[in-house]
Amino acid sequence: MSLLSEYKIKNLNLKNRIVLPPMCMYSAKNGFANDFHKVHYGSFALGQVGLIILEATGVMANGRITDDDLGIYNDEYIDELKNIVNFSHRFGSKVGIQLAHAGRKSETKDLIHFAPSAIKFNEEYTLPKEMDKDDINRVIKSFGEASKRALKAGFDLIEIHGAHGYLIHEFLSPITNKREDEYGGNLKNRTRLLKEILKEVKKYWPEDKVISLRISASDYVAQGIDINMIIDILLEVKEYIDIVHVSSGGLVPVDIKVYGGYQAEFAEKIKKALNIPTIAVGLLEDYSLANYLIEKEKCDLVAIGRGLLRNPNLVMDFAKNNKIDIDYLKQFERAY
Ligand SMILES: Cc1cc2nc3c(=O)[nH]c(=O)nc-3n(C[C@H](O)[C@H](O)[C@H](O)COP(=O)(O)O)c2cc1C
Repeated sequence: MSLLSEYKIKNLNLKNRIVLPPMCMYSAKNGFANDFHKVHYGSFALGQVGLIILEATGVMANGRITDDDLGIYNDEYIDELKNIVNFSHRFGSKVGIQLAHAGRKSETKDLIHFAPSAIKFNEEYTLPKEMDKDDINRVIKSFGEASKRALKAGFDLIEIHGAHGYLIHEFLSPITNKREDEYGGNLKNRTRLLKEILKEVKKYWPEDKVISLRISASDYVAQGIDINMIIDILLEVKEYIDIVHVSSGGLVPVDIKVYGGYQAEFAEKIKKALNIPTIAVGLLEDYSLANYLIEKEKCDLVAIGRGLLRNPNLVMDFAKNNKIDIDYLKQFERAY
């Protein structure tokens, strides 16, 4: 087992264990993908990335982080997304999409923003509306509809965004969820929205296709989510997910001490505690470190964000620098 070895989960066959994690590009118009997205995501397929996960894509208009984010709340978005998927498939990469609702961290203009409780992220953000039961049901349905569209567009994987202080995470954490109904209070109640979303998604997303859940393993504040709490949350929903993408932070403004692999220990703990595959992420662009995590089975896949953004050909560089045999595309052979 190594970073550049194949990986299989359900019907997803990856040529290596490197993942492009979702990264907002703030380049969409009215939610539509365009040439930028085609070239941008296509470059990682040419660069031999095993799994490309498209950026946080709003399941509702007010679920986008900004007005320049991708949307999947309308059938009209499907065709452009399909083009991206088809191009990447031609070059052997698999493609996922992160389905998201930004909750109180949405900066979209002229829209009401949702949250479990009416608490602002900080002074620069709007005061969100405390969601009523209808709002909650609409969000749940929207994730289901979005999965249907993702399937039509041909995605190999969907990732539910349960991290970084966006809507689902806001419900999960006692810091942002002060509700007194069945969606707040104890851990089971705070996990209810996530569970109902996953159940809805599974009505449409085929059993043999992979569902990833991205989580923040720590809020880095007292009384917030920590590794033990997130493990208990994940136990509540384990039966609905196939892989956990382990990030951290984003719920409240705090400084996090970062270093190579700073979140990898969380990924390892979750993998061991739940016996579920994990994706580790966070400053993992050093080949030796990333390969060590795979070799020692601390995680199953490694996501590299900013490292790939700087160099979409990082995978081929890894192969060349470490004398690993891979199939270079004919267009790149003379460069390697
Ligand atoms: C420009 C940019 C946009 C991002 N957008 C998203 C996003 O849409 N969804 C998400 O879950 N994380 C997002 N992230 C976090 C990354 O997916 C990743 O977890 C983070 O950059 C740490 O990995 P790295 O050190 O390899 O870059 C973003 C990060 C960057 C740099």
